[in-house]
Amino acid sequence: MSRVPGSVGLGVVGMGRHGSRYVKHLLDGVPGCHLAAVSRTDTAAGRAFTERHGVPFFADWRELVTRSEVEAVVAVTPPGLNRDICLSAARAGKPMLIEKPLALTVAEGREMVDAARAAGVLLMTAQTLRFTPVLERLRSSLPLIAPLEYLSLTMRAERPPHTWLDDPAQAGGGVLLEIGIHLLDLIRYLTGEEAVEAAGEMDRRHTARVEDLAQVRFRLASGLPCYVEVSRVSGGRVCRAEAVGQAGQLLADVDRSLLTRIEGRAIAAAESVPDRPAVVMVLEAFARSLMTGAPVPVSGEDGLRAVAMAEACYRAAREGRPVPVNRTA
Ligand SMILES: NC(=O)c1ccc[n+]([C@@H]2O[C@H](COP(=O)([O-])OP(=O)(O)OC[C@H]3O[C@@H](n4cnc5c(N)ncnc54)[C@H](OP(=O)(O)O)[C@@H]3O)[C@@H](O)[C@H]2O)c1
Repeated sequence: MSRVPGSVGLGVVGMGRHGSRYVKHLLDGVPGCHLAAVSRTDTAAGRAFTERHGVPFFADWRELVTRSEVEAVVAVTPPGLNRDICLSAARAGKPMLIEKPLALTVAEGREMVDAARAAGVLLMTAQTLRFTPVLERLRSSLPLIAPLEYLSLTMRAERPPHTWLDDPAQAGGGVLLEIGIHLLDLIRYLTGEEAVEAAGEMDRRHTARVEDLAQVRFRLASGLPCYVEVSRVSGGRVCRAEAVGQAGQLLADVDRSLLTRIEGRAIAAAESVPDRPAVVMVLEAFARSLMTGAPVPVSGEDGLRAVAMAEACYRAAREGRPVPVNRTA
């Protein structure tokens, strides 16, 4: 039974670039949930936040997790903290929404998923790209170009100033695990299939310890190939999903929310798909599952499988040959 009828109290850990989006949307109002507490390392900023909004701040996220007003935990920190936050939330019997990548490694992710299951609490992975309306539309339009021959997915973004991105202990990997994970999950979401084999190459253009450019490819269980390019070396941002079929091609420009269908040499359809902030849709879905007991739309297992795909790519790049994706992950 929630302390506020019809609304679940969320404790948000991390108020940086992305966590501040969660906080803003929760303060603006999201059906089924409200902001019950926050945690960050900057105590002065945390206390100032409490003064401004009347929401309790905890310098130690462990304290936030155990507070009774926090009925579910949202982790938006550097991913190196996800495992500890997840295990603590499971021990406290609290459901959790964890930002991608779910874990730094498959072994950690498995431990997290098992802990949540043993505790009987929901674990949702915030693979936010799944909620993007233009990609949902691409998915529902796939029959128009069937049979599908391959997917080509691209994500290029500017490099943010975070130093943890170049620290394997906090980030687990480079751009592939950090933002490419969206595209790896998208392969499963669009095709409903698992990847069986991965190959690829990584490059460090401006980073010292992890890749900032990756080109990888997968073979799915049906034999379907999928090609993924991801980088943080560009000015400007491109996120594109292209589905190539025998009866035509679908091109989704995610940042501009445009879906184009090509038939022969002509544009058969071009649609501007109304967009909404992904974080709001993720929070709505999480709150709905908490209130109704319905399964979360992106599970811990889903988060884990995307990490397994990334891990296979790293191994393939190191060994210079295609390797199997760990499907028992
Ligand atoms: N789904 C998406 O589209 C999307 C987009 C962007 C990021 N993300 C994910 O969101 C996560 C955070 O990324 P970001 O860009 O927001 O990083 P960020 O700007 O560096 O923010 C990290 C936050 O974590 C807080 N933090 C670090 N250690 C902590 C600790 N021990 N206790 C409490 N708080 C702690 C920091 O607190 P201080 O600020 O006080 O130091 C900061 O607020 C990452 O997992 C990233 O992959 C997802």
